[in-house]
Amino acid sequence: MSSAVLCMRVLARRTPRTIQHPVYDFLAPSTINTSRRHQSTSHQPPPPPSAKAPISPNSSKLSSDASSQTSKPVRTLSPQQRAFLSSALRVNQTGELAAILIYAAQNPIIVRSHPHLRPLMKHMYDQEAGHYKFFNQVLSKHRIRPTAMTPVWTAAASLLGWSTAVLGREAAMACTEAVETEIGSHYNEQVRVLLDWSRKCEERGESLGPELEGLVGELRRIRDEELEHLDHAVENDAKSARPYELLTEVIRGGCRGAIWVSERV
Ligand SMILES: [Fe+2]
Ligand SMILES: [Fe+2]
Repeated sequence: MSSAVLCMRVLARRTPRTIQHPVYDFLAPSTINTSRRHQSTSHQPPPPPSAKAPISPNSSKLSSDASSQTSKPVRTLSPQQRAFLSSALRVNQTGELAAILIYAAQNPIIVRSHPHLRPLMKHMYDQEAGHYKFFNQVLSKHRIRPTAMTPVWTAAASLLGWSTAVLGREAAMACTEAVETEIGSHYNEQVRVLLDWSRKCEERGESLGPELEGLVGELRRIRDEELEHLDHAVENDAKSARPYELLTEVIRGGCRGAIWVSERV
């Protein structure tokens, strides 16, 4: 079978599914043309013709004008932009997994010696679990592979959580402060880049599309929750950890290294 015939068969199988269940896929926009994206934003049957609204010669133009007032063309991402998003989202997913594992290792030790911290530790763990679930869904939807380093980060995060908890409450909080400082910066950078893309789209009379605009909102929400964890850590004596500088600098360096590697591997 020739490759052209094979391609046509593959496309023939894909096309009906895309029309029935339009999927915004900002990482593979070539699979959806622009007009279909617009259809999916208002996936409703056309209104029935009304006797009180006779069709005029200008009706098609009016319809087109109304459409252009309510929705802008969605900008197709460049290969560089798709690569940036794939890397960033891959890091987000593995970072949230690491956060869950750090808290899971810390919680039993910290809560046993400081029971009053149970609600706070549970609150932070639950938020990390929500972040991880969100990025898992994004990776799955856009077919982004997780980092190949996941087994290494899994072991490292559990070891980091356990060792800082053994050092004491202050060291555990210093760990949270260090991790959230780096992760907060990482999310801030993504928000900044996406807002820059959005601004450039606006200048061209285009838009990033509803899904990417929604992603900016989610990244902001998650970043704010990470910074809330940072505040909780400082309020609970993170800076009293000994040796504070060494501990936080080593953990922050480790986070930056893990982000760098996970973006590429
Ligand atoms: Fe998180
Ligand atoms: Fe966090």
